[in-house]
Amino acid sequence: MIAARRLLRVRETPAMSTTPLRWGIAGTGGIATAMATALHTITDTHTIETVAVGSRSEESAAAFAERHGIERAHGSYEALWADPDVDVIYVASPHSHHHAMTIAALEAGKHVVCEKAFALNAAEAREMVATAERNDRFLMEAMWSWFMPAWHDIRARVVDGDIGKIITIDANFAIDVPNPEGRHRRIDLAGGALLDLGIYPLALARFLLGEPCDVRALANLTDQGVDATLGAVLGYEGAIAVLTTSLEATSDLTATIVGTDGRIDIEAPFWFPQKYTLRRDVQRRDNHPDVEPEHHVHPNRGLVHEAEHAIERIRAGERQSDIVTWEATIAGMTLMDEIRRQVGVVYPSEC
Ligand SMILES: NC(=O)c1ccc[n+]([C@@H]2O[C@H](COP(=O)([O-])OP(=O)(O)OC[C@H]3O[C@@H](n4cnc5c(N)ncnc54)[C@H](OP(=O)(O)O)[C@@H]3O)[C@@H](O)[C@H]2O)c1
Repeated sequence: MIAARRLLRVRETPAMSTTPLRWGIAGTGGIATAMATALHTITDTHTIETVAVGSRSEESAAAFAERHGIERAHGSYEALWADPDVDVIYVASPHSHHHAMTIAALEAGKHVVCEKAFALNAAEAREMVATAERNDRFLMEAMWSWFMPAWHDIRARVVDGDIGKIITIDANFAIDVPNPEGRHRRIDLAGGALLDLGIYPLALARFLLGEPCDVRALANLTDQGVDATLGAVLGYEGAIAVLTTSLEATSDLTATIVGTDGRIDIEAPFWFPQKYTLRRDVQRRDNHPDVEPEHHVHPNRGLVHEAEHAIERIRAGERQSDIVTWEATIAGMTLMDEIRRQVGVVYPSEC
């Protein structure tokens, strides 16, 4: 009973506390910059501080800290994990490093929000989750699209039957990334279109339809062995999702959800949209002419939605998100494992 009360106290304190939740950012690249900015914009509404950044180099950490008004710059990731004044770590490194960094941060007693793709594969993801459980820490995959207001609104409309039963989902995410030295094309950094970009069309299909019962994939690989262009067809009972992704050229970055009674077109960029259009196929149902399409505009505050969610869950003493659950993250990695198996992409640490 005493032990139970003690546990309750530990879990309740953060929810009621006005003590700032202190964030540390692991990495100084593109998305680390976006998160530093996002966290800065919510200091008015949430009691948080971004107190530290970690990098492989002193210079990089110092420059990042200076740019974002962060107190402490650590010239190694180990120093960031060891910082006693950090509560939450945001892992913003290449995919190849998510597993090791997340585990090190959790073992050091930090909560962790780790960028997508969460890990190289499902086995790594399971180890990361087991480490969070063992250390009684919060852990979440930063799949920001699953927090977008427009995606939630679309899912509510689908559930309400506004477009009938989903028959197809068609989504594309291809951008031209020619630099052979960048992380997107490097096999040692777990590059490739799927883990970086293709994960978003998959996320949309899984958000609306859940996990598929079948998948077929084809890809063109680079000389390094990463997928430069990939197509996947996901099979569901009564529905099919067709997804394309590439590092070789830029597509229109939209998505269309076709149902028996209408369709939803999500404007680019479909993975963080502001606007979508719903067209009901009234003619077919009621023998009336088609109605004017309805346009729906939603706020899109970038990474803020996922960051706010993580803060609220941590404050409430939760150990995982109820939107991007551990189960969903592992299922997503399992699906990408199967797609990579079919197209023959194997990362060096998997050989
Ligand atoms: N949610 C989104 O919209 C979004 C958008 C883009 C990317 N991402 C995800 O965010 C992660 C990082 O992507 P990014 O675009 O920010 O990449 P990036 O610009 O290349 O930055 C990655 C950072 O990781 C650190 N790092 C640690 N070990 C590294 C190594 N061995 N090689 C290279 N860098 C290393 C580097 O910081 P130091 O040099 O300071 O150590 C580097 O600045 C990926 O998982 C990606 O899929 C998400």
